[in-house]
Amino acid sequence: MNARFVRVAVAAIAMLSTNASSSFAQASGEHSSDHWYDHAVIYEIYPRSFQDTNGDGIGDLKGITQRLDYLQELGVDAIWITPFFPSPNADFGYDVSDYTGVAAEYGTMADWDELVRGSRKRSIRVLVDFVVNHSSDQHPWFKESRSSRDNPKRDWYVWRDGGPNGQPPTHWTSIFGGYTWTLDPRTNQWYYHVFLPQQPDLNWANPGLRKAMFDAARFWLDHGASGFRLDATPYLFEDPAFPDDPHPPAPGGPAALMPYNSGRPENHGVLRELRSILDSYPEDRVLLGESSTPTIEDLAAVYGKNHDEIQLPMDFLFGNLNKLNAAEFKKQVDDAQLRLGGQTPVFFFSSHDHPRQWSVFGDGKNNDQIAKLTAALTLTLRGTALMYYGEELGMGTMSKAELAAIPIGPKRPRADDRDGERTPMQWTSGPTAAFTTGAPWLPVEPAARTYNVASEKQDPDSIYSWYAALLKLRQTPTFRSGGYVPLDSGNAHAFAFGRRLGDGRGALIVLNMSAKPQRVTITGAPGQWASFGKVLLSSPNAAAPTANTFTIAPYGVVIASEL
Ligand code: NOJ
Ligand code: CA
Repeated sequence: MNARFVRVAVAAIAMLSTNASSSFAQASGEHSSDHWYDHAVIYEIYPRSFQDTNGDGIGDLKGITQRLDYLQELGVDAIWITPFFPSPNADFGYDVSDYTGVAAEYGTMADWDELVRGSRKRSIRVLVDFVVNHSSDQHPWFKESRSSRDNPKRDWYVWRDGGPNGQPPTHWTSIFGGYTWTLDPRTNQWYYHVFLPQQPDLNWANPGLRKAMFDAARFWLDHGASGFRLDATPYLFEDPAFPDDPHPPAPGGPAALMPYNSGRPENHGVLRELRSILDSYPEDRVLLGESSTPTIEDLAAVYGKNHDEIQLPMDFLFGNLNKLNAAEFKKQVDDAQLRLGGQTPVFFFSSHDHPRQWSVFGDGKNNDQIAKLTAALTLTLRGTALMYYGEELGMGTMSKAELAAIPIGPKRPRADDRDGERTPMQWTSGPTAAFTTGAPWLPVEPAARTYNVASEKQDPDSIYSWYAALLKLRQTPTFRSGGYVPLDSGNAHAFAFGRRLGDGRGALIVLNMSAKPQRVTITGAPGQWASFGKVLLSSPNAAAPTANTFTIAPYGVVIASEL
């Protein structure tokens, strides 16, 4: 394809700009070419919990390879695998002690090569999680850096003298609690860490460090990675003046995203350089950014002034929403579609850091239907959608109490308050859900007896079947390339929007975000959105609307083609 769809998408924008909203022209796809990642579904895999193949209770790379047919059948375009590099696991892999290796518990480089080969055969791209802000304190670079003040790698990390009376250099607080500084008695200086003390921040201002990290990026690109998910991109630089915080939060209290420790202008140079490395490779490699921002304007800036930095910054303004509120969703979606300068928005709800959406939005009674509704939202919008493994089954977040009540094998520390959203993938209704033949490192959710791949594939009404249908719908021209049309539902509980190609092929999406039936009156582009061809997908089953006023079932989803 795709020249044709690009042309019609651009035409759609021209047409809609006169009809719908003046910012739409800016919004809906000024892409000069059709990149795979602009409408991709990227499936996040937490490798520790996806599929174990050697019975040690820990998922591994071979396990992912074994499940590639499943992913292909589901219809994802790419997988993002969270860190599988050597690591002391203070933060389960996000403390990397070797950027170009595979941790023994996950396998070998040969397993990686096999995984890439198998993925490519199935047209699935593989993204590597690149932890750019910090390494492990056990990384040889940090061991050297801390060994003496004049070690050549001293400046690869951020070292400062303390304040008076044994105080840290500043009273900045870490995202994981406590100060961002730890005193290293050997050299009597403090090192900076925006996360755990075991995760010292790398100093990107140092050319040697910069080169070493870019070499690590090239290593994975040379080994078949289609790009990177970049960890913690706002934090690469600190204000070189290290000013004191005029309103320091209590240690352990909320921190993060401060003007002195995040979103620094220097970040752009690093990201531009990294992007130019990716662009020097064939096959349209991509950067997916963990780029949390306080505002939509800040998010727009992450793409780069000339759109030459991160192609896919995750939209945390959307992803952090945790209540079904139609007005709030409309605002965040309209912002993402209309105020990012035409760049591709990235929608997600769940991740290894976010509680699972089945639990977050579920009301205890209608969770399955609500899970279908949130899926319809992320998967029918213009842009890229992330899925978190097991989301397609309706996996839930296990509470601390539920985790503690289930005995697992010996010596398996439950390490993290995010364990509840990292439990093993549910393949079957068996005792370990076919995740492992041994003792799983985290308990399997008891709900796996009903929420599992084997059972749900047999059931046309399951959450799995709904996701599979949505992923198919995304492949059709309207959903693949159509512009976003902001609409008004006339009802505070319902969120409506459209997708439309330049030749007029369009679709209406309406989501009832309440537990009661709601009457909607769809308006938007004048004179349109009043007659519909057929229902493309609905849940619960609905007839095609015959006019722009109709009733939609509790938590209902209606996706109808325009006539
Ligand atoms: C973001 C990662 O997603 C999270 O899991 C990790 O704890 C922090 N960055 C620190 O690397
Ligand atoms: Ca294993």
